[in-house]
Amino acid sequence: MNKFYTVEEYAKLKNVTDKTVYEWVKENKLNEINLSHKISKLVYEPTDSTKKNIAIIAFSNLKGGCGKTTLATHFAALLSIIGFKVLLIDTDHQNQCSMFFPQQPYELTIVDVLKGKINIQDCIYKTSTKTSEIDIIYSDFALSLFVPMLNDRDRLKKSIDPIIDNYDFIIIDTSPNFDIVSQNVARISTHIIIPIKLETLHIQGMEHNLLGLEQVAQIDTNKVIGIMPNIVELQLAQQRAIFNLLSEKYPNLLFMHEGLLIPKDPELPKVVDFNTTIFDFRPKSRGSSAIKRALHETLRRI
Ligand SMILES: Nc1ncnc2c1ncn2[C@@H]1O[C@H](COP(=O)(O)OP(=O)(O)OP(=O)(O)O)[C@@H](O)[C@H]1O
Ligand SMILES: [Mg+2]
Repeated sequence: MNKFYTVEEYAKLKNVTDKTVYEWVKENKLNEINLSHKISKLVYEPTDSTKKNIAIIAFSNLKGGCGKTTLATHFAALLSIIGFKVLLIDTDHQNQCSMFFPQQPYELTIVDVLKGKINIQDCIYKTSTKTSEIDIIYSDFALSLFVPMLNDRDRLKKSIDPIIDNYDFIIIDTSPNFDIVSQNVARISTHIIIPIKLETLHIQGMEHNLLGLEQVAQIDTNKVIGIMPNIVELQLAQQRAIFNLLSEKYPNLLFMHEGLLIPKDPELPKVVDFNTTIFDFRPKSRGSSAIKRALHETLRRI
């Protein structure tokens, strides 16, 4: 798996100066990620393109409406903007990832992927916005009808294994429940992010999610690399109180610094009306900057 470092971290690791690290970037011995001039650059070592070691990141929370789809889609788009090859998989029967991209006809969906009898390449569609270009596996309402027929918790892994090496990142959006599809996702993911709203019901959803990952999907909960507060309004006393409580209870998991909290941004819900992402619709908005910071922190935690 690629490891991502700030220039300072990499210099310390290699016992060289920051200047040397920048020279290595210029000489293409190191790759650089520049999300915005306000966010420190990240560097990573080039990998053998025939032997990719990809990150599969799922967004998961049993509570609905915390921003799983919004964040999964924007992470996928942003990773593409900074040059990575990305596959976005929608595993929620609501099929809402599709709303962030220009509409196009498609026949095959995650249901076909989970049935496993098709060529996986045929289920992958190309889509793009002004600034991003990703591959996507769409979902469909029929997924909810198919769930009772699925009894293999590793079906998704078996289906997508042949194409995994085509990508640097696979991003997965999940539904707000812990059915067998979500268990498939938990098992294939290398990393899991739990977005939450700073509300009591969301904390409960997050804690049930952690239990489900461990006891139902039987995965190592160390895969959970972040609890990501979203739609944040810290001026509200209740949100501030919940934030303080979470900081004490999950000091390592919580995306904690105030700069890392994703604020409530009224521009974000609008993007789906234009079938695009915030990076094209309002690139300078608070939401756009906050999602960039959240991705920066996520890459550092991988
Ligand atoms: N930072 C934000 N600021 C304002 N609105 C937001 C933000 N993030 C998400 N939203 C809005 O909140 C609503 C719920 O977001 P989203 O659909 O991404 O949640 P979800 O967790 O995927 O929900 P579900 O569990 O139903 O799939 C949407 O209307 C979305 O536009
Ligand atoms: Mg959703």
